[in-house]
Amino acid sequence: MLGVVPVGLRIDPSLLAADFANLESDIRKLERAGATILHLDIMDGHFVPNISFGVPVVEAIRRVTQLQLDVHLMLQKPQDYLKVFRRAGADILSIHIEVVPEPEMLFDEIRKMGALPGLVLNPPTPVEAVLPFLDYCNLILTMGVMPGFGGQKFQQNTISKIAEIKKHAKEDMIISVDGGISEETIEACANAGANLFVVGSALFKENIEQQFKKLSQLIS
Ligand code: DX5
Ligand code: ZN
Repeated sequence: MLGVVPVGLRIDPSLLAADFANLESDIRKLERAGATILHLDIMDGHFVPNISFGVPVVEAIRRVTQLQLDVHLMLQKPQDYLKVFRRAGADILSIHIEVVPEPEMLFDEIRKMGALPGLVLNPPTPVEAVLPFLDYCNLILTMGVMPGFGGQKFQQNTISKIAEIKKHAKEDMIISVDGGISEETIEACANAGANLFVVGSALFKENIEQQFKKLSQLIS
C-alpha cells in the first residue's frame, strides 16, 4: 500500500490479453469491476515483430462500451493512421518517439481531431528523448518491456525513468507504464510517480473482476 494516496491512479486493461472470441463479455466484466479506460495495442509487424488487431476491432469495441479508449500505436508510420483510429473511436492516441523524433505536429493533429496525444518510449530509449515534449502531450507512456508481446518480464530500469519523468511533468500529466505490470511491480511504479497502469496478462486470469480489484487495491 502507498503511504500517501494520490488521486486518479487507475488500471488500464490491455485487451491484448483478453479472450478475443468473447471481447464484449470481458469488457462487461471490466466495467463491473470499475474500469474507466481500456488500452488497445495496435501492431503493424514492422515497428514491432508482431501483428495484433486494427481499425474494425477498435470500431467494434467502441460500439459496445463508453469507456475511454487509449490506443497505443506500435506502427512504423503512425502519422498515416491517426485519422482512421480517431474515427474508429480512439480517445487517446499514443505514438512512439523512436519513429517520430519530433512529435509536436502530430500532437497538434491529434488534438484537432478531438483526441488526447500521448508519447511512448521503449526501454532502451533514454528519458532525455521525451523530456522536451512533456508540455505538448497529455500522456507519457514508459514501456516496461520491449513492445510486441504480452507476458514479458518487467525491466527494472523503468522505475527510475518514471521518477525522472514525474520530476519534470506538469501536475495533470498522465504518467503511464506498460509491460510486465503485476502484483509484484505495480506498487514500485506508483511510488515512482506513475498514475495509469497498463495490465495485460496479470489481469486476464480466471476471475478478471477479482484480479482488477486486487491490483486496484495495491495502488489505493
Ligand atoms: C506490449 C503491449 C502491452 C501488453 C502488456 O507490446 O504494449 O500493452 O499488452 O502485456 P503484459 O501486461 O502482459 O506485459
Ligand atoms: Zn501497450
